[in-house]
Amino acid sequence: MSRRILVTGASGLVGSHILFLCSPDEAIGTYREHRPHDTVYPYKPVDFHNIDQIEPFLREIHPDICIHAAAMSQLDWCEDHPESAVRVNAEAPLAMATVARELGCRFVLISTDMVFDGLKGWYREDDTASPINRYGQTKLTAERTVLQAYPEALVVRIALVYGMPVAPGRGQSFLNWLLDHLQAGRTVKLFSDQYRTPVEVRECAEAILALALSDAEGVVHVAGSERLDRFTFGEYVADAFHLDRHLLKRVSMQDVAMKAPRPADVSMKTDRLERILGRRLSTCREGLQRIAKAL
Ligand SMILES: NC(=O)c1ccc[n+]([C@@H]2O[C@H](COP(=O)([O-])OP(=O)(O)OC[C@H]3O[C@@H](n4cnc5c(N)ncnc54)[C@H](OP(=O)(O)O)[C@@H]3O)[C@@H](O)[C@H]2O)c1
Repeated sequence: MSRRILVTGASGLVGSHILFLCSPDEAIGTYREHRPHDTVYPYKPVDFHNIDQIEPFLREIHPDICIHAAAMSQLDWCEDHPESAVRVNAEAPLAMATVARELGCRFVLISTDMVFDGLKGWYREDDTASPINRYGQTKLTAERTVLQAYPEALVVRIALVYGMPVAPGRGQSFLNWLLDHLQAGRTVKLFSDQYRTPVEVRECAEAILALALSDAEGVVHVAGSERLDRFTFGEYVADAFHLDRHLLKRVSMQDVAMKAPRPADVSMKTDRLERILGRRLSTCREGLQRIAKAL
């Protein structure tokens, strides 16, 4: 009998890539507002604000594996809507994990590098998490409560994701935004003091699925092999896509008013992932060149 994999947030960037790596016979995706147009995979609508609907929803699908990628992922939106952010990003994953445990379903929560305060950089899985914005706080609460309720569950903390959506409208990454501006000849201001370890979306989804199918428990980081600031990322993009580097302007985070504070350096170490997969993930240069070649 084939296994049944539920991927929540399958209308978004990461969830759709995970879903598309699965066979349509075994996988089912969820969406809230953006109903996917493909007819290949089955989809169910669900709104994770409705915590009391989670148990009947999960019991009806009765998956063997649940990869929970749905979240309110906009930092500034979470800062403005704290109750909604807590409900969707923290309370819903706990409810999902609780029912998953009862059903004997493997549970994988997708979390974020934003659980760190950014003061140190190159964080390991067991480094102290101390988020500086509401989004990060809601995700850290989810991590802790999920692992408390279901100690065999897996939390996958992913870095800044870049890459192309599986289809138009299936999530946007920083790369699409940057390419739109550079191709239109518009100047782009990029932070030169915000460091991440960006991960290419397809590689990220492959790593998440491999981890979901492994017996790993606890927390695992999924990130690219290179720590860099957004301005340098912009330079790599301009080079890979033969666009004008002069359109890129360096700015400091201090010069831009933002509702949610951004941590300075949330680069993540991936030794645990490398031990499990037997390889490192790409650097940004490698990832961008692969994308540019494929287009
Ligand atoms: N993208 C990144 O750089 C990044 C970095 C670190 C961690 N993450 C984490 O990775 C996961 C996926 O992120 P993403 O970039 O793919 O996000 P995304 O493109 O914004 O997609 C979010 C998904 O969650 C769904 N969703 C949002 N609110 C919901 C609700 N109330 N009920 C049900 N579904 C809801 C959306 O459905 P609709 O669109 O249909 O409403 C969509 O499918 C999230 O957990 C995020 O925190 C992302």
